[in-house]
Amino acid sequence: MKILAYGVRGDERPYLDDWAARTGDHVHQTHRFLTPDTLSEGADGISCFQTVPYAPAVFAKMQALGIRYLALRNTGYENVDLDAAAHYGIRVSNVPAYSPAAIAEFAVADMLYLLRQTGAVQADLRANDYATAGTHIGRELGACTVGVVGTGRIGRVLIRLLNGFGARVLAYDPHPPAEADLQFTPVDWPTLLAESDILSLHVPGTPANHHLIDAAALAQMRPGALLINTGRPNLIDTRAVMAALDAHTLAGVGIDTYENETSDLLALSNRGHFNDPQWQALLARPNVILSPHIAYYTQTAVRNMVESSLHNLKAFRHGQPCDAELTAALA
Ligand code: NAD
Ligand code: COI
Repeated sequence: MKILAYGVRGDERPYLDDWAARTGDHVHQTHRFLTPDTLSEGADGISCFQTVPYAPAVFAKMQALGIRYLALRNTGYENVDLDAAAHYGIRVSNVPAYSPAAIAEFAVADMLYLLRQTGAVQADLRANDYATAGTHIGRELGACTVGVVGTGRIGRVLIRLLNGFGARVLAYDPHPPAEADLQFTPVDWPTLLAESDILSLHVPGTPANHHLIDAAALAQMRPGALLINTGRPNLIDTRAVMAALDAHTLAGVGIDTYENETSDLLALSNRGHFNDPQWQALLARPNVILSPHIAYYTQTAVRNMVESSLHNLKAFRHGQPCDAELTAALA
């Protein structure tokens, strides 16, 4: 099988090479994004990872070149016009889960950073203020009540990790999980907000979830609470969060999925300045921990993203079922 792989980063190359060596597939790799201009002929399918849009013209050209399959190497597909893909007869798949643990562990790392006031300690040390650096008393995760919003794949792994720390876990999800070994208390939304020392978001960025955490929700949260968003950029109203930090009602925030994230921020190779005053203001705060949408970014996850994408292409090509097909209902 001949595969074109677009948007390839250096860390993905060994896994693509390994696949080619194992299967005999020819995998042509390029760091360039998939656009009508970069699309070339002579392939059975395309594997791609990009956060910029897949233009409808890409699908038109794929059809013209006889390339019928596009397998994303990530989960989110907000940037894919699936109707346009189906219109041109292109079958599209994603990787619904490549490593829920990567994101859940990252959320825990943010929690520990904020609970131990690591940002304040670092800022004091950089200012050569060793006296103050030793005064930031921490809180222990095992002594906290953690509210998990969304008990899907990532939320469930997080609950297991929190169980290991001995934290009291509350969770809110209209579709609660069935696993009997998960230790948590299902609660309603107002109770979750009122009782959580830490709130961690693991829900999709659907229109209904836009600004789930707004000024009204923040006002219902415990004074001194922490907020972690590794879910989606639109889940929190960042201006309202900054106001709550100023008012000291919120003690700290961890944001991996920033509200105004752009492809500049998401391109790991980009060394330029991310020109957003709100981002800079957040970055300057010792009680805020920011990251450029990298909660997923582990060796395990990258390997699974590459492998699953190529498996999906193989399934398409050989007429086998592909559970991860996004265009199935549209065909
Ligand atoms: P999932 O689909 O397995 O679970 C999502 C859960 O959220 C579902 O159980 C659903 O019922 C629940 N839900 C939806 N709206 C809700 C609401 N308003 N309140 C409570 N529960 C609600 O998803 P997942 O794989 O666990 O992913 C969770 C989020 O993490 C997604 O937004 C995903 O895109 C994001 N994600 C982030 C990264 C990253 O690098 N930061 C990587 C992968 C996924
Ligand atoms: C996803 O897979 O949807 C993510 O959120 C991470 C992505 C930017 C690789």
